[in-house]
Amino acid sequence: MAQIREKQGAAHTRIMGVGGYVPSRVVTNEEVCTWIDSSDEWIRTRSGIETRRWATPEETVLEMSVEAAGKALAASGITGDQLGAVIVSTVSHMHQTPALACLVADRLGTNGAAYDISAGCAGFCYGVAQASDMVKAGSAEYVLVVGVERLSDLTDVHDRGTAFIFGDGAGAVVIGPSDVPGIGPVVWGSEGDKYETITQTFPWNERPESTEDAEGAEGAEDGGQVRGPFLRMEGQAVFRWASYQMAEVSLKALAEAGVTASDLDAFIPHQANMRITDRLVKVLGLPEHVPVARTIAEFGNNSAATIPLAMERMLEDGSAPHGGLALLIGFGAGLVYAAQVVSLP
Ligand SMILES: CC(C)(COP(=O)(O)OP(=O)(O)OC[C@H]1O[C@@H](n2cnc3c(N)ncnc32)[C@H](O)[C@@H]1OP(=O)(O)O)[C@@H](O)C(=O)NCCC(=O)NCCS
Repeated sequence: MAQIREKQGAAHTRIMGVGGYVPSRVVTNEEVCTWIDSSDEWIRTRSGIETRRWATPEETVLEMSVEAAGKALAASGITGDQLGAVIVSTVSHMHQTPALACLVADRLGTNGAAYDISAGCAGFCYGVAQASDMVKAGSAEYVLVVGVERLSDLTDVHDRGTAFIFGDGAGAVVIGPSDVPGIGPVVWGSEGDKYETITQTFPWNERPESTEDAEGAEGAEDGGQVRGPFLRMEGQAVFRWASYQMAEVSLKALAEAGVTASDLDAFIPHQANMRITDRLVKVLGLPEHVPVARTIAEFGNNSAATIPLAMERMLEDGSAPHGGLALLIGFGAGLVYAAQVVSLP
């Protein structure tokens, strides 16, 4: 019987280049406070958010993805037609099918494999792990990973627990072969018993007939029409989980990569809440000289886009060095998480 021939890819992988896109509209805490009973001071101290960016109708998930991807490709020195695969992480592409990644791939000029993943705020790190494994297995030489969200479409501006948190934007990286290890082992997992802690007000196919039936959709009354679905969150439960369990996951990712916190040149956690970041920094025992991503203050939480956007910003402003070691950790709805140590492009 004939034996199947296997393929071998690159021995090592790396992030070759990063690019980001943030929408032009700046939404201030003052504006948020015209929708909910809150204050600039409360939002700043409880979340660290000062402004967030919300997309205009023209700034679609596709357009933002293409912008970010174009910058990542240019920084990587490759062209779109060289991409063997395109992975897009998003929860705000409003078509259940087909995948946004197919449109992104087409716009970039590749017929490579293209698919979306739904891993909430961990989606970018999930994508990096998959892409790295694909390059090592030989199923693609270069893979584009995009994290893109328009969470403003899923935000109930009258919900005190979420209206101030979410933002829009896109970030992208190209993963390709490397002479030396550039992407460490991923530490990832899920905790489906916490499925309900971040969820939608109702599933797409179960839109309530009236606002009376729309549980938890307070403020959704626009001429009696049910709006949404919107994101809902048990803030305190997610906060505790992120602050404690994600510290352990971060430590495991360092151990798996064989590096210590003091070897790091940057710490780039998902931007969910400045106080979660502070807690992770403390538990990791991160030395003061290691720069920490804090883009939540300016961009809010744009889910799968936070990590690549922060990476681009830190490289651009010089706070993190090209080629330095960075610890990435994403965590969110599912609940799911993923962390890995990478060399910065
Ligand atoms: C959402 C979050 C900022 C809320 O902060 P918190 O400190 O947990 O706030 P709580 O819900 O405990 O509420 C504390 C008080 O503030 C009030 N409050 C809640 N929302 C408020 C708002 N928007 N403005 C002003 N006051 C508010 C509450 O009513 C409560 O008042 P009380 O003490 O008089 O009862 C925080 O829980 C959080 O960031 N959670 C994790 C978010 C996250 O990581 N999400 C994404 C994961 S990907």
